[in-house]
Amino acid sequence: MAETWVRVAAAADIAEGNVMAVRVGEREIALYHLPGGDYRATDNICSHEYAQLSDGWLENGEIECPLHAARFDVCTGKALCAPAEKDIAVFEVKLQGADLMLKLPG
Ligand code: FES
Repeated sequence: MAETWVRVAAAADIAEGNVMAVRVGEREIALYHLPGGDYRATDNICSHEYAQLSDGWLENGEIECPLHAARFDVCTGKALCAPAEKDIAVFEVKLQGADLMLKLPG
C-alpha cells in the first residue's frame, strides 16, 4: 500500500525545544521539535487519563504529562514511569521544504 503523508504544520510554527498539538482527522497528535533539530510525533493524549501531553514539559527527549507527571519517551512512545503503564503511539515525521509531514498509520 502506498504511504500517505500529510502536512501538519510549518516547521517555523514550532520552536526548537517545544511541543505543539495538531489534529489529523480524529487523532490528536503532539509534534516535538527536539533540541538539535529533530522532529518527532506521538499521540497527544496521555495513556493514563485524559490530558494533552502538548500541555506538558519536554525535556531530554521525554514529555511529562501535565496532570499526574507520567513521562514518555517521545522517540519510542514508551511509558517511563507511573502512573502511566501503557505506551503511546509514535508517528514518523519528516521535514519537506518548509513543511512538517506526518505519515498516516497504515
Ligand atoms: S493523565 Fe497523564 S499521568 Fe495521569
